[in-house]
Amino acid sequence: MYETMFQPITIGGLTLKNRIVFAPTTLGLSEEEYREKIRAIAAGGCAMVIIGDVPVGRHGPMSLYSRKGFAHYQALCRLVHQQGCLICAQLHQSDSDFKAMIKYIPGILTKRISMEDLRPLLNQQASKLVTEMSADRAAEIAASFGPAAVRAAEAGFDMVQVHGDRMCGSFSSALMNHRTDKYGGSPQNRARFAVEAVTAVRKAVPGMAIDYKLPVRQENPHYGNAGVLVEELPVFVPLLERAGADSFHVTLANHAKLTDTIPPKNHPEFSAEGCFLRYCDQVRQYTALPLCGVGGLTDPDFVEEQLASGRIQLAAMSRQLIADPQWPNKVEAGRLKELHRCVRCNKACLGGMQQHKGVHCIYDKKN
Ligand SMILES: Cc1cc2nc3c(=O)[nH]c(=O)nc-3n(C[C@H](O)[C@H](O)[C@H](O)COP(=O)(O)O)c2cc1C
Ligand code: SF4
Repeated sequence: MYETMFQPITIGGLTLKNRIVFAPTTLGLSEEEYREKIRAIAAGGCAMVIIGDVPVGRHGPMSLYSRKGFAHYQALCRLVHQQGCLICAQLHQSDSDFKAMIKYIPGILTKRISMEDLRPLLNQQASKLVTEMSADRAAEIAASFGPAAVRAAEAGFDMVQVHGDRMCGSFSSALMNHRTDKYGGSPQNRARFAVEAVTAVRKAVPGMAIDYKLPVRQENPHYGNAGVLVEELPVFVPLLERAGADSFHVTLANHAKLTDTIPPKNHPEFSAEGCFLRYCDQVRQYTALPLCGVGGLTDPDFVEEQLASGRIQLAAMSRQLIADPQWPNKVEAGRLKELHRCVRCNKACLGGMQQHKGVHCIYDKKN
């Protein structure tokens, strides 16, 4: 019944046992809870887990270069492999200007600035950061994706995803990037940072599969501030493919409200099952590479239809696998009545993250 969903697929030489992937998801849990959550998701039957926000930088406790960070990723890779699942590192460069953020801390602590108020303030800082950075520094950061990919491979990751949002996404967007040099202006120039990052990864790990998380933004109505306008896809997609991307993970661009990129059921624009697949249709016009859809994928029949029709080649799920890590195993075994379908309430997952309690689910006690 779900024939396409459980067929293997090979991307950039890497064979995934089926078409279901855990979308990159920062969980904000203690190390022990985090490992248990990732173990449960990997054991639930998905083909690959994408570990969100693996920094390319050399500093910080979760760096691939620190002893603690590297050991953390090595342990995760072992744990996921033991469940018969693959693991991908989402290579990420933040575009937050931490020095500029310090001035908001008193306002946050006294609750004069809410987390919702903070987002537009941080967007302004990100825009300033990518606009004012020297070209040499931009080239240096883009190049750093290469050695980070080598470290990821050494830790045991099977694939890397270049996070096309955050710094890549801010460089990509005319709303965020106001440069007048070779990294700004035309879509070709705004694509340069991301293309250099992918090129660096391809050169550093020639045999490794590379995914690109492609954030798309739209006007009329306006959604997403970073990333690539639909009209700019004919420039960005072929450039990224030529640089070495083996697949695209397509979603709404960020630097907007979190409830747009992680939309609840009552969202005015993205309420439907498969809410961002319209962007896959746009990307498909410019590439034959495998596309991974994400966003509100919860219904086995719907997911199978999208895969069987060839609209997408992979289906990524974040909240659905948080709600029920066993979704793939249950669907494959035809145990549909036992599924805990994500209702997109955002109460305990995004809500838990925003309240600094970590990502949980209203179903947690039932799993
Ligand atoms: C709690 C939470 C944390 C997330 N963290 C990340 C992240 O670290 N990197 C990323 O690219 N996307 C992140 N996302 C976005 C998801 O990958 C996904 O695109 C989004 O949730 C829509 O898919 P869904 O409807 O299956 O949840 C996160 C989503 C949630 C719910
Ligand atoms: S808390 Fe609600 S939106 Fe979040 S994963 Fe659970 S059911 Fe889905």
